[in-house]
Amino acid sequence: MQKLKDAILTRGKAINQDVLLVDAFLNHQIDPALMRDVGEAFARHFAGGGYDRVATIESSGIAPAVFTALAMQLPLVVLKKQTSRIMTGELLQTTVRSFTKGTEYQLTVKRDFLREGEKVLLIDDFLASGEAAFGVLRLCEQAGAQVGGVGIVIEKAFQAGRKRLDDLGLDVLSLARVRSMSPGRIDFLD
Ligand code: G4P
Repeated sequence: MQKLKDAILTRGKAINQDVLLVDAFLNHQIDPALMRDVGEAFARHFAGGGYDRVATIESSGIAPAVFTALAMQLPLVVLKKQTSRIMTGELLQTTVRSFTKGTEYQLTVKRDFLREGEKVLLIDDFLASGEAAFGVLRLCEQAGAQVGGVGIVIEKAFQAGRKRLDDLGLDVLSLARVRSMSPGRIDFLD
């Protein structure tokens, strides 16, 4: 998606070979018009796939996922990274480790919001090693639901996540695929 690549090149910044700063339009400040276009691009690709629900992980996946769900006229569930006292009812949980951030969290969802037999479209901001996506796959399995497709705003193609998802036979669409980067330089795959 050219508009997204332009935003990455002009408003993003490669901190080093591994981390791309996109807080000007995706992770901190959000560009709603760009996120709307992102959501519509996902909706065009995944339309007709028989999806029942869009899922994302808080927090940076929410903006692109809202616009995707709106365009596809599907409900959206936001998977939580922590529970709270007001999260009642039966909860499904799985542990996810983030290599980029060096953190670990309990990916959590109310069973009511991820139902048996549903086909789920996962939308997320970044794909790196795929740990978050695999956490969503495990939660869906617990719920008796199935992830059929994965829409990623920015894929770090030099990390293992894409291959791990492709190997499962999932329909994966990344709108920008970063082949490599270093301070002052960002190269895309296509
Ligand atoms: P993985 O799920 O593909 O294995 O990715 P990894 O554990 O390496 O990283 C997960 C977290 O790190 C996610 O944020 C993801 O958005 C973020 N991340 C990964 N690579 C980059 C990068 O190059 N730049 C930026 N800005 N973020 C990156 P999160 O913990 O879910 O936070 P958030 O959604 O609340 O922002």
